[in-house]
Amino acid sequence: MQLRSTATVAAVLVSVLVVLLPGATVEGHNITAILAKFPEFSTFNHYLTITHLADDINNRQTITVCAVNNAGMSDLLSKHLSVYAMKNVLSLHVLLDYFGAKKLHQITNGTALAATMFQATGTASGSSGFVNITDLKGGKVGFGSEDGGGTDATFVKSLQEVPYNISVIQISSMLPSAEAEAPTPEPAAVNITSLMSAHGCKFFAEALLASAAMKTYEDNIDGGLTVFCPLDDAFKGFAPKYKNLTVGGKQSLLEFHGVPVYQSMSMLKSSNGLMNTLATDGANKYDFTVQNDGQEVTIKTRLVTSKIVGTLIDQQPLVIFTINKVLLPKELFKAALSPAPAPAPEADAPTAESPKSSKKKKHKSPPAPASSDSPADSPDGDVADQQTDSNDAAEIKGFRFAAVALSFWFAYFAM
Ligand SMILES: *[C@@H]1O[C@H](CO)[C@@H](O)[C@H](O)[C@H]1NC(C)=O
Ligand SMILES: *[C@@H]1O[C@H](CO)[C@@H](O)[C@H](O)[C@H]1NC(C)=O
Ligand SMILES: *[C@@H]1O[C@H](CO)[C@@H](O)[C@H](O)[C@H]1NC(C)=O
Ligand SMILES: *[C@@H]1O[C@H](CO)[C@@H](O)[C@H](O)[C@H]1NC(C)=O
Ligand SMILES: *[C@@H]1O[C@H](CO)[C@@H](O)[C@H](O)[C@H]1NC(C)=O
Ligand SMILES: *[C@@H]1O[C@H](CO)[C@@H](O)[C@H](O)[C@H]1NC(C)=O
Repeated sequence: MQLRSTATVAAVLVSVLVVLLPGATVEGHNITAILAKFPEFSTFNHYLTITHLADDINNRQTITVCAVNNAGMSDLLSKHLSVYAMKNVLSLHVLLDYFGAKKLHQITNGTALAATMFQATGTASGSSGFVNITDLKGGKVGFGSEDGGGTDATFVKSLQEVPYNISVIQISSMLPSAEAEAPTPEPAAVNITSLMSAHGCKFFAEALLASAAMKTYEDNIDGGLTVFCPLDDAFKGFAPKYKNLTVGGKQSLLEFHGVPVYQSMSMLKSSNGLMNTLATDGANKYDFTVQNDGQEVTIKTRLVTSKIVGTLIDQQPLVIFTINKVLLPKELFKAALSPAPAPAPEADAPTAESPKSSKKKKHKSPPAPASSDSPADSPDGDVADQQTDSNDAAEIKGFRFAAVALSFWFAYFAM
């Protein structure tokens, strides 16, 4: 009896040691795997997964997760929040800085405000996306949401620390936040074209409303949709070329700006590589390359490099970004390619996690115009029109090539 319990204690100790051994498999962290070692946090872990916050956490380099055990989660679950509100609430528990047990107990001046992932999504207004950490009497550490006011929870223990990458700690209860819990409209109820129109993408919205591409967008919202929406200045400059496209070409161009999966900004930041679009269909690849330098995310086709400049909505399963240039698929704008001197960015890019084929496609993309006398193919090089006007030089044949090449380089590097 005595022997058996000693053995049990030893076994428990060993497994605790294994669990706490830092950095054993850390090569980029995995919050799901970390929390999976603590069954009493299974509910918290489950909701990190279904809200996709786990991906966002894994993609951050320096982060602290304030976890609450299953008993603490039951209070939150009894509120029957939508998955979107749940995401906001949980994201308030993810601090964008490293707070290990030691640092928590030694906060300069005894109090600090920590920015959270809720604040980073832009959903929070004012200071409501911050958590107030305060060293209390008796060595306790208090946590409070800024809009909750006061100290709502206390530090319980450290679950795993990988300095200074990820710290997972337990706090005594969920932080109340009226703003995070507020019901948000479900994406299905969002009128995406009026949202676009109201935020600088009126031309793109109008083009969508006039095309069968609108139905493809609508059909994909529920299953996951990421839209890269060109701002009005960009689409205005592109309008003459757009008008020249066939009905099918217009539809493909618009569908080229949508991806049939949900890709938050942080997911994009970790998914360099090729990505299929709503226009992808069999032989018509209609793909582009997502590339980032950790800060900025760019979308590259062989003809243009466009930059994400804003987020109109990010509510899983729908996210709409604004971009500064119209994305030109090589399938529609081949002519501009032939004299292009730039390297093909797609060729050596690793393949990102992206749908192999678009879901719920409701139309067959018309075959891309193959010959260069198609109306879709403009002689002057499409890249030029978005960035600079190269028409002046276009009279002389040789010059024209040079102009196209030059403006390509401008389009490529002028950012
Ligand atoms: C922390 O992250 C960096 C960058 O991802 C990595 O090089 C380093 O090994 C990580 N540290 C630990 C202790 O895992
Ligand atoms: C993280 O860990 C979970 C559970 O071990 C696993 O299912 C998942 O694939 C991992 N995610 C990544 C990005 O490695
Ligand atoms: C700590 O308090 C001092 C004096 O009030 C102030 O000057 C300093 O900026 C504070 N430090 C931090 C990190 O808040
Ligand atoms: C955090 O809250 C406490 C108590 O409400 C307050 O005294 C303190 O100033 C707050 N800290 C910061 C950095 O705002
Ligand atoms: C969305 O708003 C546009 C105006 O921007 C309107 O034409 C369209 O009918 C609306 N769509 C739905 C589904 O209500
Ligand atoms: C549109 O097509 C016509 C006829 O093919 C061509 O002459 C014209 O240059 C094109 N315009 C643009 C802006 O591509």
